[in-house]
Formats: sequence, C-alpha cells, structure tokens
Amino acid sequence: DVEGVDAWEVLDSRGDPTVRVRVETADGAGTFTVPAGASTGAHEAVERRDGDDRYGGRGVRDAVAAVREDLAPVVVGRPVADQRGIDEALVDRDGTENLSRLGANAVLGVSGAVAHAAAAATGRPLYDSLAPDAGPGDLPIPMINVLSGGLHAAADLPIQDFLVVPTGAGTYPEALEMAWAVRRAAGRRIGDGDHPPSVADEGGFVPPTADADAAFELLTAAVRDAGYAPGDEVVFAVDVAATHFYDPTHERYALAGDRLDREAMVDRVVDWIDAHPVRSVEDPLAEDDWRGWERLVDRVGDRVQVLGDDLLATDAARLDRAVDVGAANAALIKPNQAGTITRTRRVLERAQAADWAPVVSARSGETCDSTIADLAVALDAGQIKIGSLARSERLAKYNRLLGIGRAYDGDFAGAAALAPRS
Ligand code: PGA
Ligand code: ZN
Repeated sequence: DVEGVDAWEVLDSRGDPTVRVRVETADGAGTFTVPAGASTGAHEAVERRDGDDRYGGRGVRDAVAAVREDLAPVVVGRPVADQRGIDEALVDRDGTENLSRLGANAVLGVSGAVAHAAAAATGRPLYDSLAPDAGPGDLPIPMINVLSGGLHAAADLPIQDFLVVPTGAGTYPEALEMAWAVRRAAGRRIGDGDHPPSVADEGGFVPPTADADAAFELLTAAVRDAGYAPGDEVVFAVDVAATHFYDPTHERYALAGDRLDREAMVDRVVDWIDAHPVRSVEDPLAEDDWRGWERLVDRVGDRVQVLGDDLLATDAARLDRAVDVGAANAALIKPNQAGTITRTRRVLERAQAADWAPVVSARSGETCDSTIADLAVALDAGQIKIGSLARSERLAKYNRLLGIGRAYDGDFAGAAALAPRS
C-alpha cells in the first residue's frame, strides 16, 4: 500500500518550475516529474501556476501544496497497483473535468509517481508494469525534430517543428543513427563552419528562413548529404501548430505574411505534401477548425498521417468526436494534457481501437524523466516524438529506449506504425 506522498518544486529544461512527486510503499518508491508545454491547447487539462512574484508567476508551490494536503490523503493506504482506482480518486478530489481546481500538474504528478512506485514494488521495469496482460509492445519509431520555429524558437518561421522519420531503419538504434546524420548535415548547412548553430527549446536548429518550402528543401538537401534517399529511407513530419497563428475573429491563418482562409490553408498543406516527402502533418489546422481538419483528411488522409495534438488534447471525448467525423487519423498522446496515467492510456487505446496511430509525445518543457519512453513501449504506441538529438531532457528518453531495447527483445515498429493504417 501507499505509505507516503511527497512533492516539491524543481526546474525544467526552460528553467521554469515544475512539480516532482515521490510516492513510497513498503516495497519500493517511485518518482515522477511533470512536463510543461509552450504551445498549449485550450482543451488541455489545466496546469496550475502560482501567479505571484516568484519565478515571474510561474511557481508551482500551490500545486505542490495540493499534492501534500489534498491528494496525499486520498492515496495513502490504497494498494499501489490499483492505478485506475487511485486515478479516479485523484480526479474526484479535484472535482473538475479539466483538473483546474488542484491543478493537472498536481494530479499527474501523483498519478505518474504511483505508476513508478507500483513498478518498483513488484521489481518490474515500468514498460512491463504498465503493459497489458499480453505484455509490452514494439520499440517505437521516432519522429525527430531537426528544425524549430513557432513558439519554440526566436525564428521568423511560424511553423513549429520540421522532423525526420527514418523509415528506412530496421532497428531503433539505426533510426537514431540515421536521424543524427541528417541533423548533423542540416547543422552544417545552417552553421558557418566554425560554430555550431544555436538550438531551440527541443534542441532543433533555427533555420535561416521564414518559408516552409525553403525549410523542407534544406531538410531534403540534408538527407542527401547524409547519404539517404529522401521519401524512401527518410521521410518528413511537420508540426504546424497552426492554432498559434490562427486568428479566430477573422478566421484567418497568418502564415509568414499571408492571411489564409480555411480552404487556402488546406491547399497550402496539400502543396507541401505534394512538393516534399512529407508523410505526417500535425496540427495543420487550428484546434477548433473541425471543418478544416475534415477537409484535409478527405484530400490526403489515405496517404498521409494527419495527427491531432491541440485538436484532441489527449481527451477521450474529443478523440471520439474526431473519429466519428474523420477529422484526423492519428493522435498525439501527452500525459499532461490528459492529467492521469489512466486517462492517457484510455485515449491511446481508443485511438488504437479506431485503427488510428498513437504518437506518444514529450512537451517542449521537460526534465530527464523518461516515463514516456516506457509508456510508448508498454502500450505499443508504435511512434514517439521527443524532440531533437540534443539537450539531456530529450536524450534521457532516447537513451531510455536504447536501454529498454537491451533488456527487452521487442520488435521495432518501423514505418508500418504510421497512419493511415488500414
Ligand atoms: P508544446 O509543444 O509542448 O510546447 O505544446 C509540443 C507540440 O506541440 O507537439
Ligand atoms: Zn504539437
């Protein structure tokens, strides 16, 4: 049974405060640290910040106090293996759907630490302890950030991430090696030869252009420099994060000088797909532009992964609606959008049941917590998105997957993990 719950404030990869929770049982303890987004969606579970003078208002002392005073009492004495029962009790104690009263950062902190404590108590690794009865799944294929813009970089480029997916890789370590070679080649094209280029929040390089086509061309050249065939061995993914340049009042997308209506934005995304080896598009439309999403799926959903992040916000009701109307064919899975491990798992399993592709994802604000690596393997997500091959908060997760691959003889999900799946 859970014997104790403690929480404290630590700093994340942007230097901002976040919540770390430790759960103790007689047989072992577990610790989890909550991540934080910058390009957050309106439909996410709500992170609680103090809003006082400390850390520019971004302190999390209230969330930490909520863990100790409100949540610890409902968890202590419960069987640590009862993740579902504990998560329900946490959500009940908060009392709001979006966890805004105590804070999703408080609730997820406890939920994640319980998962680690349960694994420790049984002596099993987390990827095994979180797995269903059938056991853990495949090692995921990574989509790896190479170029960054949007809210993650001081870039002119409004689009957030340009990523590579090493579809030619036969193993997870080979996928990392291929992405490394492409990233290095991109860095050489951007840098001045003497100095490495600066990196953004997720370790991606800031491209010297505001133009998406130019960014894709840079990536294509980098893939060739690295000795791979673009579109065959390495394909591209893009996180447009379009919510953040959408003007809802005038219903326009403000994309590098253009003001596009829905139809023009859909056309623009289709143009990128036709002109470059783009195999996955995330948040190509704003989070509530349902008709735009449906339109894009009608046009390219049979050949390209259309991936909902802000659209779905790892929320079961939004996922169900999106499946119903055909607004995407893949779901980004972020535990702190959902607020508990159980909710996260439910959304991922529902995506799988609909033949959608789940992509387990980090946030732009992270720590060296590597829980999402275990989660992706445990639940057989098939794909993972962590950021670039730089910055230790990213590498902690890539490296955790290398370690899981040593201990566990799972298959590599490979290119088949990408949507469309049927
Ligand atoms: P965020 O970025 O963590 O800043 O939301 C990640 C993403 O948009 O996928
Ligand atoms: Zn995103």
